Amino acid sequence: MLKTHTCGELRKENIGQTVTLAGWVHRRRDHGGLIFIDLRDHFGLTQIVLNPNTSPEAHKVATDLRAEFVIRVTGQVSPRPSGQENPGLATGDIEVYVDRAEILNDAKNPPFLINVEENVDETLRLKYRYLDLRHERLQRNLTIRHRAIKYMRDYLDARGFIEIETPILIKSTPEGARDYVVPSRVHPGQFYALPQSPQQLKQLLMVSGFDRYYQIARCFRDEDLRADRQPEFTQLDLEMAFPEQEDILNVIEGCFTGMIPTVTPHKKIPSPFPRLTYAEAMARFGSDKPDMRFGMELIDVSDIAGKTNFQVFSSAVQAGGQVKGVRVPGCANYTRKQIDELTEMAKGKGARGLATVALTELEIKSPIAKFLSETEMRGLIDRLQVQQGDLLLFVADKPKVVADALGALRLELGRRLNLAGKDMLAFAWVIDFPLFEWNAETNRWDATHHLFTSPKNEDIQYLDTDPGRVRANCYDLVCNGFELASGSIRIHRRDVQEKILALLKYSKEDAFARFGHMLTAFEYGAPPHGGIAPGIDRLVALLCDETSIREVIAFPKTAAATDLMTNAPSAIDEAQLKDLKLQITN
Ligand code: AMO
Ligand code: AMP
Repeated sequence: MLKTHTCGELRKENIGQTVTLAGWVHRRRDHGGLIFIDLRDHFGLTQIVLNPNTSPEAHKVATDLRAEFVIRVTGQVSPRPSGQENPGLATGDIEVYVDRAEILNDAKNPPFLINVEENVDETLRLKYRYLDLRHERLQRNLTIRHRAIKYMRDYLDARGFIEIETPILIKSTPEGARDYVVPSRVHPGQFYALPQSPQQLKQLLMVSGFDRYYQIARCFRDEDLRADRQPEFTQLDLEMAFPEQEDILNVIEGCFTGMIPTVTPHKKIPSPFPRLTYAEAMARFGSDKPDMRFGMELIDVSDIAGKTNFQVFSSAVQAGGQVKGVRVPGCANYTRKQIDELTEMAKGKGARGLATVALTELEIKSPIAKFLSETEMRGLIDRLQVQQGDLLLFVADKPKVVADALGALRLELGRRLNLAGKDMLAFAWVIDFPLFEWNAETNRWDATHHLFTSPKNEDIQYLDTDPGRVRANCYDLVCNGFELASGSIRIHRRDVQEKILALLKYSKEDAFARFGHMLTAFEYGAPPHGGIAPGIDRLVALLCDETSIREVIAFPKTAAATDLMTNAPSAIDEAQLKDLKLQITN
């Protein structure tokens, strides 16, 4: 190696040793005699000192140095003068007095500073991602990512899972997004799809007799991107033969419960992970991915509100809807403007209005007080266990609208009131999802999870008569308001799979054209099987306190699915198009 130690390694114990370090000039301070340099590498910073009297040549080299030059120095580890120690730095007790210095490479002035965290435009960061990645925070994020994945691999290996790679050029696997497609040169006019996940392949591996499979799998989805979505992302994809739901939950819960204290010991996690049914999650939190770092649950007051003379409440309940409220602690003094803002937010989620009750020191302030008797108002206040200073928010509507509106307000107010503990990772399992959800646009049922998910045995009887009532053998792991993982016990029989495909309005021919390999495989002794796939990017973002998964991916894409560093996607040559027998029309 060109160095004897890293820049994060030297301690008091090394004092007196002659060492060679190599790295980047992080900061250079010229004290008009002594030159001090913070030398940086992946491991940390070490202060080096160049003295013109004792090593004039090395000092001369240092005079020309600018930020991000790559240098190599040799010198002696010395204690820092008393009072000059830096307890904030791992190497803060020592400095290296340099005898020899050489420039290994010079550097242009970087487009943004590497030695301070500042608000740099993300476009610029992504264009020069290789420089952006020099920041300590990103070096740390990718290291945590590596450690998390390493833990998963070891954990699964110890439990009999084997890692099997599956192809990237495949036939379309529907996971609810658009496919990325790759044209075939050998078969002009035909296309491979990039896997939205290895779903079908891992199921086929179970048919093949592999007992436990996993893969750190890259998935590709052409969908609208957000802070928690990338066009290509990574899953810890796994599948087991002959499992019960409990076995799969235990594998993941055990893995995360061991991994998190190892990789990010400051994070707090619940033990065991709480479990909620989908119905319970919607009822209590207004979301199928509840943020359970704080309470502020949705409370049903339909029984009280439905009997009042307030038309908005009573008619909603009569029409089969509900009235629910949340208690916002300490916000009774919200101004008219603040209340209007909350109302707009509720309306944005489909509610027709927002009814408020504020319990100030002096009075009960509420635009709906005039419609309610004192007993009715008292009933609402008691039901929500209100204390003086609290603000109550009520929405009356269909359950879905109530959940969406109050769920969104709950999240917003939880954020404003800082109710979520910073280092809390509030994992929870959400189980018993409905198998189908109605798609009003296409006027048909969609699979809630995916079309390989099995219905609960006891609900199979409703498949024909009341598909919306059928619950699935499927489960999500959620954390802090994000969906971290989804999985299910699969269908392993051809007749059941055909039935589901028919309900999803695939014709027999279309079903066979797309999924013939699965249907056929199920006829050759497919074992009962099931699995799950945690999204690694989202998990690591939570571990690293990052709000965007781009901060934990080495080379991410923008929200417009472009790579600003290499300028992908880009046009291809005429000759390539000709080879592929493709024509671009505009
Ligand atoms: P699903 O589609 O729910 O399930 O995906 C599983 C997990 O992958 C993560 N994820 C994403 N992360 C970043 N960017 C995206 N665009 C993105 N899309 C999904 C989420 C999500 O919970 N084959 C099934 C799993 C199974 O049934 O075993 C599947 O892919 O964290
Ligand atoms: P109105 O009678 O329309 O003036 O409404 C009286 C109060 O009820 C106002 O504060 C409205 O914002 C609120 N409101 C209207 N519709 C709803 C609804 N669907 N749910 C909750 N509050 C509502």
